[in-house]
Amino acid sequence: MSELLDKYIISHSDEEGKLLERLNRDAHVNLLRPRMISGHLQGRIIKMLTRMINPSQVLELGTFAGYSALCFAEGMDDSAEIHTVDNDDELEEFVAKYLELSEHGHKVRQHIGNALDIIPQFKDEQFDLVFIDADKRLYCEFYDLVFPKVKKGGFIFADNTLWDGKVIEDPLPTDAQTGGILAFNDLIAKDTRIEKVILPLRDGMTLIYKK
Ligand SMILES: C[S@@+](CC[C@H](N)C(=O)[O-])C[C@H]1O[C@@H](n2cnc3c(N)ncnc32)[C@H](O)[C@@H]1O
Repeated sequence: MSELLDKYIISHSDEEGKLLERLNRDAHVNLLRPRMISGHLQGRIIKMLTRMINPSQVLELGTFAGYSALCFAEGMDDSAEIHTVDNDDELEEFVAKYLELSEHGHKVRQHIGNALDIIPQFKDEQFDLVFIDADKRLYCEFYDLVFPKVKKGGFIFADNTLWDGKVIEDPLPTDAQTGGILAFNDLIAKDTRIEKVILPLRDGMTLIYKK
C-alpha cells in the first residue's frame, strides 16, 4: 500500500488514543524490536473485530509491550478478560505500568512464561478468541495446543502470516521462522474443521473460525 493511501486510511479511521500513542513511543525508545507492536491501523482493526465477536474469554500468545492486549481489551465488555502470555520477563514491568494507566487494564491478566507451558495450565477455560503472535517457529504447536480450548464458533487470529512476503519468495527462504509460517499456512489451508482467510493487512493476519 502506498504511504499516501496509508495516511489517508489512518486519517479517516479512529485515533489510536493518547495512552497507546504514549506506549508506542515509550516502546520505541526503551524496548528492543519495537516494530513488533501491532500499531495504529492493526490495533483499530483488532478492536473492531473484537467488538463484532463480543468475546468473554480471550487468549493472546505474545504480549510484547501490551499494545495489542489493550486493543482487544478496548473492544471487550467490562466483565470479559484477556489472558496474555509472554516469555520475556523483562517486559513485565513495562506492560504492568500501562495496564495500570489504562481504563481497560483491569480486563488483562499477564502471564510470564513459555506459551507451550502456560497453555496447558488453562484446564477448564474455553476461549472465544485466541491471538497467536509469539515465536513464528512454533505457530503449528501453538495452534494444536489452543485448538481444543477454542469454543465451537470461536475464532483464532494469527499474525504475520505473510511474513514480509517471504512466503512467496523464489527460492523460498530456509530460515526456521519462515519455515514455521509456511508450515502453519499449509496446516491451516488443509484443516477442514475451520473456515479461514488471510487478511492482507500489514504483515498478514489469518482469521480462523472454528466450525
Ligand atoms: C510480535 S511480539 C507480540 C506483539 C504484540 N502482540 C502486539 O501486537 O503488540 C512477539 C512476542 O512473543 C514473545 N514470545 C516469543 N516466543 C514465545 C513463547 N514461546 N512463549 C511466550 N511468548 C513468546 C516475545 O517475547 C515477544 O514479546
